[in-house]
Amino acid sequence: MTTENLPQERPLSELVGSSPSGAAWLSRYSDSLMGVFGTPQRVLVRGQGCYVWDADGKQYLDLLGGIAVNALGHAHPFVTSVISSQLSTLGHVSNFFTSPTQVALAEKLLEITGAPAGSKVFFANSGTEANEAAFKLARRNSTNAANGQRTKVVALEGAFHGRTMGALALTAKKAYREPFEPLPGGVVHVPFGDVDALAAAVDDTTQAVFLEPIQGEAGVIPLPPGYLAAARKITHDAGALLIVDEVQTGMGRTGAWLAIEGSGIVPDAVTLAKGLGGGFPIGALITFGAENSERLSAGQHGTTFGGNPVATAAALATVHAIETQGVLANVRAVGERLRESLSALPEVAEVRGRGLLIGVDLALPAGVPESANLAGAVVNAALEAGFIVNAPGPRTVRLAPPLILTAEQADTFVAALPQLVASAAAQLSAATTEKEAK
Ligand SMILES: Cc1ncc(COP(=O)(O)O)c(C=O)c1O
Repeated sequence: MTTENLPQERPLSELVGSSPSGAAWLSRYSDSLMGVFGTPQRVLVRGQGCYVWDADGKQYLDLLGGIAVNALGHAHPFVTSVISSQLSTLGHVSNFFTSPTQVALAEKLLEITGAPAGSKVFFANSGTEANEAAFKLARRNSTNAANGQRTKVVALEGAFHGRTMGALALTAKKAYREPFEPLPGGVVHVPFGDVDALAAAVDDTTQAVFLEPIQGEAGVIPLPPGYLAAARKITHDAGALLIVDEVQTGMGRTGAWLAIEGSGIVPDAVTLAKGLGGGFPIGALITFGAENSERLSAGQHGTTFGGNPVATAAALATVHAIETQGVLANVRAVGERLRESLSALPEVAEVRGRGLLIGVDLALPAGVPESANLAGAVVNAALEAGFIVNAPGPRTVRLAPPLILTAEQADTFVAALPQLVASAAAQLSAATTEKEAK
């Protein structure tokens, strides 16, 4: 049997088939896909740079970038050509083998994260999987100096580390956790940003502390100044590992390769994903220093797809483009401009974040009840107006656009926001009045 004579010019659209509209695709979606994501907002068919187009031909400025994933925007020519060239050379090998792209990417990540000698990389396919590997790393820190057992892992209230069972045990949100209990044991959550609470929770039975430098899913909430250094000292003194989840904040998102850059701390491990592959799925656990790199031995962890030649080629291309095209400087400049101009709007109560990871807390407009999902209504108004953003909380809009966003593109959103809030407020007030009349 051979498949070689499949006509190469057969367009993908023939395999996909067609639907007359976005609404028709959504109806087919709800008949065929599990409902875990709710109803998708739009059916997207094409992207170019910072823009995407839906099945009805409408254009959007993508200020969410696949939630901090599309670092170089959509259909980046260099990344696309590297992926295509690697796929047509060698697409997949089992982990009985390695490939040059895998080795080169590991070396590059160790270089750009400033990892000390003896540091190593494990490749996974997502942020959750990177954290799952990190959880297993933590479990290997199992005994203390007094030959007692370490059984506890500490994470923060508000934390999001993923949704598989181990990563979910680290995630704080009850609504995500409770339907799936019992979760892997020993995880405690301490109040966010409270050094004393952390110090009280960490002792010589603690395996590790997990932190996000900026909690993205909780609404773009940065750790307070000095917290990382305090956490490093507390974990060091107790012999516990400090594991930093940079899945959302890493790979240039904050204007540096890692958000912890400049904090002066050396963690025991860092997890990466999202922007790492520029849109291609890949995650990584980086163990800092030889001792941490030897905690997991042969056979203790693994994956079929992790670190495959195409994913690692995509990440190498992404890192190269970020490094050589002045992308980190762009993130810092456009991020600062966005934060400054958003802060100046009367519709905005607070702006948080760093680089191009920005949380915008909206002021409550007159006539809108406290309990209303204002940010959700703004997301809908933004879609109508041709902008993609999201709402991690009822008053918070999150921006995590491609790192190549221009100042002019950023300005269009700032100029539009007052009108987006006004139309969201009008819609919410009308809904409230209608409810009261019933
Ligand atoms: C900080 C953090 N960790 C882990 C994850 C999970 O990553 P993934 O969705 O790639 O599994 C996310 C995703 O939002 C995240 O923001």
